Amino acid sequence: MKQGIIFDLDGVLLSTDEMHFAAWKSIADELGIPFGRTENNLLRGVSRMASLEIILGLGHMTLSEEEKQTLAERKNGRYVAFLQSLTPDVVTQEVRDTLTELHARGRKIAVGSSSKNAKLILRLTDLLKYFDAVSDGTNITRSKPDPEVFVKGAAFLGLAPDACAVVEDAVAGIDAANAGGFMSIGIGDAASYEKADAKITHIEELLNLI
Ligand code: BG6
Ligand code: MG
Repeated sequence: MKQGIIFDLDGVLLSTDEMHFAAWKSIADELGIPFGRTENNLLRGVSRMASLEIILGLGHMTLSEEEKQTLAERKNGRYVAFLQSLTPDVVTQEVRDTLTELHARGRKIAVGSSSKNAKLILRLTDLLKYFDAVSDGTNITRSKPDPEVFVKGAAFLGLAPDACAVVEDAVAGIDAANAGGFMSIGIGDAASYEKADAKITHIEELLNLI
């Protein structure tokens, strides 16, 4: 049994991964770089600037630091504009019920997200109340696949990594969880990743796993 569960946010608790995709796609289109869902999967769990580097790499394009900053800020402006449509209603009943049941079973739960917008998203969707801790892009120096965000999340919960499971839709997130000594659970895009310790299709399946 795992005492702690650390949830990735974008693409696990909410479909904000689609908003990241739309915002990056608009930037890639402007740069003339072909960018579809397959390419977008490479960006899951990866920081904003590292995501831009991946897109530029796909287009064999080199830009100055200043130009990259401008593009990263433009992408974030569009993404944050999309986020304004979030309300508590977008959180599925399945997510709410799973988080509530984990609490009822005495588990500690945290968010472990690379995003600097995580707390804004949690506020807009009224999800903050479910979590004992939030570890996000504002308290890390290294993004997934580095385990830092999960190691800090576990520390915020007062638990060791081997007492926690991580739920992730990103290959980089599963790698991060494994590197940090956590049980890794893949969902969505990461449900077909062979390095995930366990794989689920629906978040409520967690209740039978941990
Ligand atoms: C992760 C997403 O949660 O956060 C990535 O999976 C994103 O796609 C990363 O790049 C950083 O997000 P933000 O909101 O700080 O640009
Ligand atoms: Mg994710």
